[in-house]
Amino acid sequence: MNTQELDKKYVLPTYARVDVEFVSGKNARLTDSNGKNYIDFTSGIGVVSVGHANERVNSAITKQISNITHTSNLYNIAPQAKAAQKMVEASGYDMQCFFGNSGAEANEGAIKIARKFGERDGEIKRYKIITLQHSFHGRTITTVKATGQESMHNYFGPFPDGFVYADDIAQIESLLDDHTAGVMIELVQGEGGVQPQDKEAVQNLEKLLKSRNILLMVDEVQTGGYRTGEFLASQVYGITPDIVTLAKGVGGGVPIGVVMTSLKGVLTAGDHGSTFGGNYLSTAAACEVMDILSELRANGELKSITEYFNQELEKFYSSHRNLFTSKVGIGLMCGLRVKNAETLSEIISNAKDNGVMVLKAGRNTLRFLPPLTITKEEIDEGFNSLKSAVSSI
Ligand SMILES: Cc1ncc(COP(=O)(O)O)c(C=O)c1O
Repeated sequence: MNTQELDKKYVLPTYARVDVEFVSGKNARLTDSNGKNYIDFTSGIGVVSVGHANERVNSAITKQISNITHTSNLYNIAPQAKAAQKMVEASGYDMQCFFGNSGAEANEGAIKIARKFGERDGEIKRYKIITLQHSFHGRTITTVKATGQESMHNYFGPFPDGFVYADDIAQIESLLDDHTAGVMIELVQGEGGVQPQDKEAVQNLEKLLKSRNILLMVDEVQTGGYRTGEFLASQVYGITPDIVTLAKGVGGGVPIGVVMTSLKGVLTAGDHGSTFGGNYLSTAAACEVMDILSELRANGELKSITEYFNQELEKFYSSHRNLFTSKVGIGLMCGLRVKNAETLSEIISNAKDNGVMVLKAGRNTLRFLPPLTITKEEIDEGFNSLKSAVSSI
């Protein structure tokens, strides 16, 4: 049996798979099992931030696992402590980290911190978490419920109580009450359609929440790891959240989830844990990814490649106004809104046939999440293929 046949027979059908199998990659290039080459404008949905087969990350991983891969969190783990230091220092916030394995797990941790904070702070038990419509926070039972998209709540109940959905940031104030523990937002909604929040509205929300001793929780699972220009989008927005969650791009392809918080004393030994979380493998990878990306940020290369990508995306958008209504996003988290949602699948499928991988977000957004190490040549090749892909639409 080939991979597709094995997959159909043995793997649960929870993903609508596209029939392509990539066998190798190099930076923003992918090769499939038929030897066909592609430019990758998706980086595995924002994960392979330093490109495919990054030599520095591979060498850090192999060096690490040839010594030790896993011991358990009962003992000190040098790369875990170093990864935490790198993340806290890159954020500029006075925080500590907890390591898990995914974005949803990171958000679960954030919710536990907020709820425990709410329980011990004051006489009234504060447990409510406000999230936004069109948000996406994960696939576990709790994070499905935290996700403010009604279509995600069709099955799997009964859900944990205490999630309240706001239409937008402006509505949050009217939903706060004595039981509100925190507000969790994405600064750029990813799965919801590459939708950046308004900076002033976010800064006003921060002030409002601080004045009410309610936690500001920022889900940076997709925006974090330099995707929007700084280590965290929270820095781009000029805010200081109480809790930040990370995953995707900070492991460069190795599973990792991180909760960062300034509430250092809330969780104590036994409150939370994760067998694999923060082991030598994932945190050695994260340390190297952090080094590579902070160097790119410091030497200006991240800024210049982000500008180049956005300039080429703008040109592509301007010459295809028949298909798209606007260009959206921040940094290398960008999208084009399509005029007609029906054409979106056609664009993505034609793009694949023409050798460039792109994504869908929300109902009507063509989404771009290229590796942050993408080169100008790769960008040019990708947009040339995309132009061919839409020429017949
Ligand atoms: C903003 C956001 N939060 C949480 C998640 C869930 O992350 P994971 O799939 O790693 O559990 C995602 C995944 O797309 C995300 O974009």
